[in-house]
Amino acid sequence: MTPKITLAPMAGITDQVFRRICFQMGCDEATTEMVSAQGFLTAPKDRNAYKFLLARFPEEGPLAVQIFGSQPHFMAEAAAGLTELGKFCAIDINMGCPAQKVVGGQSGSALMKDPDLAGRIVEAVKASTLLPVTVKMRIGWNDENKNAVSFAKTVESAGADGLTVHGRTRMQQYAGKADWDMIGQVKAAVRIPVIANGDIVDGSSAVSCLHFTGCDGVAVGRGALGNPWIFSRIRQALRGEEERLPPVSEIIETAMAHAREMEKWKGEKSAVLEMRKHFAWYVTGQRGVAKMRTRLNLAKNFQEAEEILRLLEVE
Ligand SMILES: Cc1cc2nc3c(=O)[nH]c(=O)nc-3n(C[C@H](O)[C@H](O)[C@H](O)COP(=O)(O)O)c2cc1C
Repeated sequence: MTPKITLAPMAGITDQVFRRICFQMGCDEATTEMVSAQGFLTAPKDRNAYKFLLARFPEEGPLAVQIFGSQPHFMAEAAAGLTELGKFCAIDINMGCPAQKVVGGQSGSALMKDPDLAGRIVEAVKASTLLPVTVKMRIGWNDENKNAVSFAKTVESAGADGLTVHGRTRMQQYAGKADWDMIGQVKAAVRIPVIANGDIVDGSSAVSCLHFTGCDGVAVGRGALGNPWIFSRIRQALRGEEERLPPVSEIIETAMAHAREMEKWKGEKSAVLEMRKHFAWYVTGQRGVAKMRTRLNLAKNFQEAEEILRLLEVE
């Protein structure tokens, strides 16, 4: 079977504008930024945060919505409400977020310390929706507690339809090498599809990861930042072709198209602020990048930003 190439959820990054670009480059499926189940249920529905978090362009590809929380009944109710919106292909449950404010509430990766609760959440969510229910997990809490295999079996038994496994512990946060070996052990232990995540940075690493883990697909996180071409490169690598790097002109066009769409959606002021990080990522690897990032951060509008980016063509 052709492996599934997905965009991993990233809060503050994987909004509809960025996702659409990734889909255009060959991504098969994406996930929203994480959404608090309780927040979704209690906030007035037109609150900007939820309006933006749940927005999707009709021409995007399949999109899962990711929820986090620790109380099975809230998670189930939120899943039912999100299912009703009719725009998501799956409900993904966050069991990997390492942030203190999330684990402090027993959510995210804290659930890996409480497989029983994790199982009850999956069961409750399954009972509340007809959509597939997937779990995004890590390999454990810390080096002493790498319980990914037993945890995966628990959530599978509870009804999970698929898993994405980030090959790091909670304590590692985002540092250190992802443990593909352990991801492979999870894949071998369950019958549901497993997507491998962690350290996919180009086409060849995706191919190696698929080969090494035997997984059904890969999820790309930071490797896609300023680099949506990673999806077409993974496809090229899977076909055994040489990976094509985008010319500078294409990087600039894509960054500016990203900016203009963001501006249409959120207005100039927010878009200029939000695009700073994206511009910094788009110019990664180019010459004189440190100076350019400083200048891009000071740009007051996108015309100025484009003039700065165009310098890449003459240097
Ligand atoms: C800025 C940022 C935000 C993230 N937000 C989420 C999130 O909302 N939900 C989630 O499950 N994972 C989130 N992650 C984790 C990624 O989905 C992914 O598991 C992790 O970055 C490892 O993959 P990578 O090595 O390809 O980056 C986030 C990661 C980053 C860097």
